[in-house]
Amino acid sequence: MKKYILILLSIILIFSCTKKISTKVQLNQKVDSVLNLMTIDEKIGQMVLYASDGDVTGSKIKSGLVEDIRNGNCGNILNAYSVAYTRKLQKIAVEESRLKIPLLFGYDVIHGHKTIFPISLGESASWDMEAIEKGARVAAIEAAASGLNWTFAPMVDVSVEPRWGRVSEGAGEDPFLGAKIAAARVRGFQGKDNNLADSLTILACVKHFAAYGAPQAGRDYNTVDMSHRVFLDTYLPPYKAAIEAGAMSVMTSFNELDGIPSTANKYLLTDLLRSEMGFKGLVVTDYTSINEMVNHGVAANEAQAGLMAIKAGVDMDMQGEVYFKYLKKQVEDGMLDEKLIDDAVRRVLRVKFLLGLFDDPYRYCNEAREKRLIYAPEHLEAALDVAKKSMVLLKNDNQVLPLKKGEKIAVIGELAASTRDLLGSWKAAGDWDFMKSTLEEIKAFNGDKNVFFAEGCKTSGDDRSGFSLALSTARKADKIVLVIGENWEWSGEAASRTSIQIPGVQTELLEKLKALNKPIVVVLMNGRPLDLSRENQLADAMLETWYAGTMGGKAITQVLYGEYNPSGKLTMTFPVNLGQVPIYYYAKNTGRPIYLENPKYKSRYIDAPNDPLFPFGYGLSYTTFEYSDIQLSANELKPDGELKANVTVKNTGKYDGEEVVQMYVRDLVGSVTRPVKELKGFEKITLKAGESKTVSFSITPDMLAFHRLDMSYGTEPGDYKLFIGGNSRDVKETTFTTPNP
Ligand code: BGC
Repeated sequence: MKKYILILLSIILIFSCTKKISTKVQLNQKVDSVLNLMTIDEKIGQMVLYASDGDVTGSKIKSGLVEDIRNGNCGNILNAYSVAYTRKLQKIAVEESRLKIPLLFGYDVIHGHKTIFPISLGESASWDMEAIEKGARVAAIEAAASGLNWTFAPMVDVSVEPRWGRVSEGAGEDPFLGAKIAAARVRGFQGKDNNLADSLTILACVKHFAAYGAPQAGRDYNTVDMSHRVFLDTYLPPYKAAIEAGAMSVMTSFNELDGIPSTANKYLLTDLLRSEMGFKGLVVTDYTSINEMVNHGVAANEAQAGLMAIKAGVDMDMQGEVYFKYLKKQVEDGMLDEKLIDDAVRRVLRVKFLLGLFDDPYRYCNEAREKRLIYAPEHLEAALDVAKKSMVLLKNDNQVLPLKKGEKIAVIGELAASTRDLLGSWKAAGDWDFMKSTLEEIKAFNGDKNVFFAEGCKTSGDDRSGFSLALSTARKADKIVLVIGENWEWSGEAASRTSIQIPGVQTELLEKLKALNKPIVVVLMNGRPLDLSRENQLADAMLETWYAGTMGGKAITQVLYGEYNPSGKLTMTFPVNLGQVPIYYYAKNTGRPIYLENPKYKSRYIDAPNDPLFPFGYGLSYTTFEYSDIQLSANELKPDGELKANVTVKNTGKYDGEEVVQMYVRDLVGSVTRPVKELKGFEKITLKAGESKTVSFSITPDMLAFHRLDMSYGTEPGDYKLFIGGNSRDVKETTFTTPNP
C-alpha cells in the first residue's frame, strides 16, 4: 500500500513540476510572440513610465502623454487612478495603438489607497504580521478597485537615522523584523499565493534598492557609504525577504553605494539581484534617477547615463525620458546591443501577462466594484485595528491612563483638531474630509460637555498668542490631553531635519501647562523617533500614535479610554538627544565598553548617557508582565540541531493585555566583531489579567549565520548568549554553545 502511495505522490509531483515548466514555457512564448511584432520604438515605449497629472514627486512632467500612449511610446503610467481615468487611458492603449499592448498603472499605495492605515513605521510597531499583511491586502483591494495594478511598495529600507524623514515609510532599524514585515506586505499586495492574475491583487515593488536608508547626516538623497559586510548583514535582508516572498518589481534608489549610484550599479541590479537572489521581475528606476547620474558625476550627459542604466540592469525609466530620447540612436550607432532592450521588454511584458492584462486590459476597471470596495466597512475596521495596535505607550506614571469616561478633560493642540495630519505622508487617494479628528472622536466618546478645546499653538513657528486661552481652558479640566508633534509635511520624502525635538513652541506650552499641577497626557503624532527627553520630564503619560490613518482619531480615543490596551513596541530607538544618533540596539561592544572600571577612557559621552531614552522593542501596557527565567532544552546547539527556549510570561496587572515577547542572541566571539544583541524571534501573545503563558522559541544554526571574515556566509562555533524579554534592554538571559564541527 505504502509503495502505491509513494508512486502516486511521485506522479503528482512530476505532473505539477511539468505543468509549472510548461506554463513557464507558454508564458515565454507568449511574451516572445508580442516582442517579435514590435518596432524598436514600441519596445522602448514599454521601457518608460510617465507621470499623469496626479501627484508629482519630482520636477518633470511630460507633455503629450495621450499621444505617446497612442503611438506606442508610453507603456506605463504613474499617478493616474480611478476607474474612469484609467479606463480612458487604457482604451487609448488597447484600441488606438498599433499593437494594443495594455498599460501598467502604478501609484504610491504605501499605507493604504483610500482607507489609509497608519504610516508604515507605525504599523511596524504593532509587531503583528497578520495585521500588517491585512493592511497591504486592503490597500491592494482598494487600489485594484480603483484601476491600479502596481504599487511602489513595500519600502523596506532599514534605517538608524531619525533625521531622515523617510524612516516613516519603513519598518524601522531591525533587519530581522524588517524582513518579516517586508514579506508580509508583499503577501498582502500580491496575495498569499502570488496570483497576480487575481484582479484584487497588485504588483508589489520593493524599494529603494539599495541601502537608501543610510544617507549621511540623515539628509535625503545624500551619499551612502558602508562596509560590504554591513550592507549584506544589516541592510539587505528585507529586500531579500520581499523577493523571496515573490515581489515582481524592484525600484532602484537615488543614492550611491560605494561610489556608484544604484541606477548604474551592475553589481546590485544584475549580479546580486538577478543572479544571486534569483529575481525574475522588472527593475524600474526611482523618479528621474537616470538623469541624476549626471549630477552624481558618473555620467557626462544623460545619454551616457541611460547607457549605464540599461547595462546595469534597469528595465524601466521612471519619468526621465532618457530611454525614450537616446536608446534607439545608441542601438543604431552600435553602442548598445538590442538584445539588452529585448530582455528588458520581455520582463515588462511578462509582468503584464502575469497580471492578466492581455486577457482583459479592463480587469481593474469596474465602477460597481470600485464603489463597493472603496471605504468598505471591513477596510475601515482593519485600519482601526492596526491603528490601535501600532500605538506605543511610552510613559504612564500613577496610571493616569486610561482616562475615565465622564472626566472633564482639556484637549489642547493644533494636531488634535486636524484630520489631514492623521494621514501622514503618501496619503495616496486618502480623503481627510471623510474623516473625524481626534478631538471629534474624544468628544463623541466622552460627551461634548466634558471636553474643552484650545489650539494653544501651531506645530511650528513661535506664535504664543494662543497660550493664555489654552491655559484658561486647561484650568477647567481634571486632566489635560496635549496633542503635539510634527505636522504631516515634516516626515516623508524630502523632509530631513537637523533637530529631532518637537518643533515650534509646543514644548514651551507643555511647560506652562505643567505649572497648573494637573495630570498631563501627551499624545504624540510624528513620523520619526524624536528627542522626548524634556517632554518625558514634564508629562505624566505619553502615547506615541504616529500618523494613525483614516481611523486614527477613533483609535487614539479608544486607547486613551482603555477600550484597547496599548501593545505597540518601538521599532526604532528613541535617543536621549540627537548627539547619540546613530543609536541602535545591535551596536558592537567596542574595545572600551562603558561598563569598564576606568572612569574616563571608555566609549561614552561626558554629557549624556550611552543608553537611549526608549530602547528598541520598548512599549508599556495598562497591565504589567512578569517573565520567568529561560528554560533551554539543551546547552549545546548541534550543526543540524534545534534548541527550544521557553519562557513563561504572566500578566500581573488588572487588565487583559498583549505582549510582544522578544528573543535576542549574542555571538560572543566571532572571526569579525558581532553585535551585542540581534533579534532572532518574537511572538505577540494575549494574556487575560492573572493569566500565564509559556512561549517557546526555536533556535536553529541558520539563525546564527553572518558574513564571516572571508565573506562566506555561515555560522561559527562558540559561546552565545540568549536573551528574552519585553524589549531589547530588559531581558532574561542564559547561554548556549555551538560545538566545533
Ligand atoms: C520616491 C519613490 C516614489 C516615486 C514615485 C520618488 O520621489 O523616492 O519612493 O515611489 O517618487 O512617486
